[in-house]
Amino acid sequence: MGKLEFNYDSAMIKSHEYENLKPMVLAAHEQLHAGTGAGNDYIGWLDYATTYDREEFARIKSAAAKINEMADVLIVIGIGGSYLGAKTVIDALSHSFYNELPKERRKTARIYFAGHQISGTYLTDLLEMIEHESVCLNVISKSGTTTEPAIAFRVLKNALEKKYGKEEAVKRIFATTDAKNGALRQLATANGYETFVIPANVGGRYSVITPVGLLPIATAGIDIDAFMAGVTEGQAEYSNPNIDENICYQYALLRNVMYNKGKAIEVLVNYEPSMAFLAEWWMQLYGESEGKDGKGLFPTKMNNTTDLHSMGQMIQDGPRHVFETVVRVASVEKDIVLELEDNDLDGLNYLAGKTMSYVNENAFKGTLEAHVDGNVPNLVVTMPTKDAFHLGKLMYFFMKACGVSGYVLGVNPFDQPGVEAYKKNMFRLLGKK
Ligand code: PA5
Repeated sequence: MGKLEFNYDSAMIKSHEYENLKPMVLAAHEQLHAGTGAGNDYIGWLDYATTYDREEFARIKSAAAKINEMADVLIVIGIGGSYLGAKTVIDALSHSFYNELPKERRKTARIYFAGHQISGTYLTDLLEMIEHESVCLNVISKSGTTTEPAIAFRVLKNALEKKYGKEEAVKRIFATTDAKNGALRQLATANGYETFVIPANVGGRYSVITPVGLLPIATAGIDIDAFMAGVTEGQAEYSNPNIDENICYQYALLRNVMYNKGKAIEVLVNYEPSMAFLAEWWMQLYGESEGKDGKGLFPTKMNNTTDLHSMGQMIQDGPRHVFETVVRVASVEKDIVLELEDNDLDGLNYLAGKTMSYVNENAFKGTLEAHVDGNVPNLVVTMPTKDAFHLGKLMYFFMKACGVSGYVLGVNPFDQPGVEAYKKNMFRLLGKK
């Protein structure tokens, strides 16, 4: 339906650097598809778009409709892979001031997030804000035991039970968790919440295409059929073993070329505020998948042109250990034409008749040129339009590239043993038995 584009200046690498890595990318492709690589019990996301439970998918749509009938506010409780994907899609595809719009205009529930940190201030303020609102909760935790969402859920569940009584609160709570295991599954069964399943073979950071992402996304009024159609197309297109025809594998290959050439940092760059959260999701995906065994590119972000006025100097003139991956949206969604003014006191008449998107596009082109000239290689991924279909395809593009890139790097891209270290110390300090 719609192709993503992938471009880079071929002068930034030598052809042997590209050719030398091709056999490794092909081997990674084969390992991933044959299920013979490290972490192979967590590759359920690979073909999820063709295997997912259609009955559950229909139930997600009904639950979203029920939430929108019952509530003005949906609070999504989760951390890491259990919230980043949903927030990315909702931010990207909704009005920039979605939660502030009047109900008649928005039509669907306002969406807030909780359980992604341990701040008493945040949760107190959230409780105050929802005091006179009608509320539903979607609590999301694969393990069902993660401290941050468990604390937020305990507090918010109690608030709902006080407000509505136990019986009505049950109707307003939706749990997304493992099919059998974990405290949240037990709690949901004991209380009779409607539940959705996070497949055992899909890790958190690869789970936006499962009920983890789909229920909040559908509740925000976003077309999850189109989103999954994009994922499905990505699944088919990016399984082509011919690397010269597969832009997803080219991206995986080039980031390893960059790493081997001494680049230590990859910056995900965007020029649309609604796309800013994509970088948060992407940073978790690549940081948690590749940062292990003393290896991995450090993933970070620039939201331009904002960050050109804070980090621009560092990128242009600092240590040459950085490359950038720009995510662009080719078509214009909404625009403003700059008008001619008689006195031109602000000196902007040279832009009269031009649009803000034209200015933004030239900011992108000028920055790319300056950074490439300054020896900061740029890779550019272009979405033709910012819609559910292409966002689904883009997210699959990054997930597939991550699996392949991790295997080329020689790590297990599907585990996260390092995340346990802080928890162990925190539990010791808290005296957890
Ligand atoms: O990608 C991951 O595995 C993590 O970010 C998890 O999603 C995160 O820690 C939340 O875990 P859970 O869904 O088990 O509460």
